[in-house]
Amino acid sequence: NTSEFGLFGLGVMGKSLCRNLANNGFKISMFNRHVDGIEVDVAKNFKAQYSELSQAQAFDDISEFVNSLQQPRRIMLMVNAGKTIDYVIEDLLPHLSENDIIIDGGNSNYKKTKERYDYLKAKGIRFIGTGVSGGEEGALKGPSIMPSGDKDAYDKVAPFLETISAKDKNGLPCCTYVGPEGSGQFIKMVHNGVEYVEMQLLAEVSTILEALGQNPDGISQTLESWKNSANSYLLEITTSIFKKKEGNDWLVNKILDKAGNKGTGNWTTIASAELGVPSTLISSALFSRYISFYKEERLQLSELIETENTSELNITTNAVLEAYQFARIINHYQGFKLISEASIKFEWNLNLSEIARIWTNGCIIRSTLMEELVSIFKETTNILTNTELIEQVKQLKPSAKKVVSQCLLNDLTTPALSEAIQFLNGITTKYASANVIQAQRDYFGAHTYLRLDDPSGKPHHTNWV
Ligand code: 6PG
Repeated sequence: NTSEFGLFGLGVMGKSLCRNLANNGFKISMFNRHVDGIEVDVAKNFKAQYSELSQAQAFDDISEFVNSLQQPRRIMLMVNAGKTIDYVIEDLLPHLSENDIIIDGGNSNYKKTKERYDYLKAKGIRFIGTGVSGGEEGALKGPSIMPSGDKDAYDKVAPFLETISAKDKNGLPCCTYVGPEGSGQFIKMVHNGVEYVEMQLLAEVSTILEALGQNPDGISQTLESWKNSANSYLLEITTSIFKKKEGNDWLVNKILDKAGNKGTGNWTTIASAELGVPSTLISSALFSRYISFYKEERLQLSELIETENTSELNITTNAVLEAYQFARIINHYQGFKLISEASIKFEWNLNLSEIARIWTNGCIIRSTLMEELVSIFKETTNILTNTELIEQVKQLKPSAKKVVSQCLLNDLTTPALSEAIQFLNGITTKYASANVIQAQRDYFGAHTYLRLDDPSGKPHHTNWV
């Protein structure tokens, strides 16, 4: 029983985490099930490829793997989210001892995580659901890690997770105890929702820059020049993407315009609907991916209903940058709003500043804006009450309006940029049109309404006919 930490599942992320743990001097055991039809032992084969794994133990037998670990055992699962997690838990259970700890590092649904936590608790096994962000490279060099579950179980795995995580600009780990079971997976899910929007915004601004006459090299140069005012990991990679050539043409021009997804943006949209939180940008970014998927229908309808393209786009590149910055602030407002409402509803007591802090490095949505939010969340849970951000929003909004209206006149599709303005208009409206909705509800369904001139809060009903 010599290994301190076990890694179950040697896919792309699992492999990178193993190397990261080994590079940090931890004694690890690695497991991958025997793959039918393949002669080689995946774990042993992987171990042989990297010198840092020379001390690691490799297994394709569950019982030998579990027995190689010091107790209480720490076993991190890096397998496909969904039913596979439950099968793996069932496979492991007969070999485990009381107080052993299972860590799920996949993009699992937060509700499932809670169920698994309860199920395992009844069997004396501790369960930690954790978000892990940063892709393959992040996992290898330092991901952002978002663990949740029982604090005492976290303390047992903290030395490992905090060591292998990315570090923030003060050298602190981008890994913190998030809160009770499910909360880590919840914030990772919202992270991905925010990620979808940041990606969509960059896709939209590239379309606008293209319409302004820039070729991919030009778009890349423009995005590069935005680094001083709006830097983020996603801006950086998009800058490189537009530079990449294959033969005489840019690779980006050859990629089929149907966006895939693995379901977390879908869950974020469902969660915001369930919690009654208007995460309009996330749903807009998600539905944009869905619209893109209707490629054949788009081709058909583009012939039947031609787009106008009547006027020329009358905007500057700088206005596009400002519209982008504006929408990013609204995106971050909405993402953290969803987290803060969930925290209240589920009594998670989440620390928004800490969440922003562990997202300043290692993860996909790291950015200078995220760094600003770390201190802003020390003062408030609503970033749109922060004086500096209010100033920025006021200063950027005219450009956002100009860009979006020009795009509308030219039939350029910019749903997330448009929605950012619509949302800000909605959330800053003193008297909304919801009075009409209430009257309609009362008219056809006697659902009653409250009156502005009756502070008692008593429901009123009118016989409308
Ligand atoms: C991360 C990413 C990652 C996510 C992929 C795929 O933080 O490292 O969010 O967890 O699974 O980016 O997401 P989609 O396939 O849904 O775009």
